[in-house]
Amino acid sequence: MGNILKLEDIKRIAVLGAGQMGAGIAQVCATAGYEVVMRDIEDRFIQKGMSGIKGSLDKMVSKGKMAQADADAVVKRIKPTLLVDDCKDVQLVIEAVIEDLNLKKTVFGELDAKCPQTTVFASNTSSISITKIAGSIKRSDRFIGMHFMNPVPVMKLVEVINGHMTDPAVTALIMKLSEKLGKTPVEVNDSPGFVSNRVLLPMINEAIYCLYEGVGTKESIDSVMKLGMNHPMGPLELADLIGLDTCLHIMEVLYDGFDDSKYRPCPLLKKMVDANLLGRKTGRGFYDYSQQAPPKK
Ligand code: 3HC
Repeated sequence: MGNILKLEDIKRIAVLGAGQMGAGIAQVCATAGYEVVMRDIEDRFIQKGMSGIKGSLDKMVSKGKMAQADADAVVKRIKPTLLVDDCKDVQLVIEAVIEDLNLKKTVFGELDAKCPQTTVFASNTSSISITKIAGSIKRSDRFIGMHFMNPVPVMKLVEVINGHMTDPAVTALIMKLSEKLGKTPVEVNDSPGFVSNRVLLPMINEAIYCLYEGVGTKESIDSVMKLGMNHPMGPLELADLIGLDTCLHIMEVLYDGFDDSKYRPCPLLKKMVDANLLGRKTGRGFYDYSQQAPPKK
């Protein structure tokens, strides 16, 4: 306890994982002026992450939201790396690796031994218990959830999740940091799916049941929610954006966590994941993206 960093102490941030979410998080941190180390385990993941960041910045430059020189400076502030040791001299670690509890425990465990004791650890997990990940490392009071939404550069929310042991001063720090990143933080407590995915995913799962049971076509289900509820995307389009594997994982966390049949994943969702129809990232989910230019992130 005690000795919690202040906002002005944070200069360098390590982002673990260069996928869709990790790259987006690295981009917003670098855009806010932070030095960023973005780590992944294979060069091709790093290359894909960096090209996603450049594509997103290009979009902003072409829309007049950012000057080219500023976009170039953002890219320069991101140091891609494959080495864990490059991530040790940072004040904040934000983890965005795949949704696997053991992998998350491993990557945090490595850095727990290497980073200064004051370094704050945050996970961008979409539903794994913050308390459970924190329980595997020594600094459980300096561990918190920082749940960004996809696409990260555009969406305003950061869901800030307190684990059972999170020091309130760490929560206050991460709330302020999220604002500095240009986001609107909302504080919640640890529980399966937190608030965001506990509310969103059952709606998506129910939309998949409507398709499975022949209540509507994919287009009609999406149109009902877009035109009737003013959602920017229909639930099936959104599932394709999130990734069907991630959707299934979140439903399983809700189903196991609450032990309640109302969270039963739709069999069609399971079947599509088995068939590798994961949405935009594999070129096909409920919709076909194979004829399009690289999908929007
Ligand atoms: N980088 C930078 N800018 C981007 C971008 C990116 N990756 N993606 C979109 N934009 C910009 C566009 O340039 C455009 O800018 P403009 O307003 O100046 O023209 C603006 O964002 C809107 O984009 P588009 O015109 O291309 O398309 P849309 O108007 O359809 O918006 C969308 C796209 C923002 C994705 C919108 O459809 C939307 O809000 N969809 C819902 C997304 C959502 O619900 N996300 C949460 C998912 S749940 C989650 O992430 C949690 C996880 O744990 C599962």
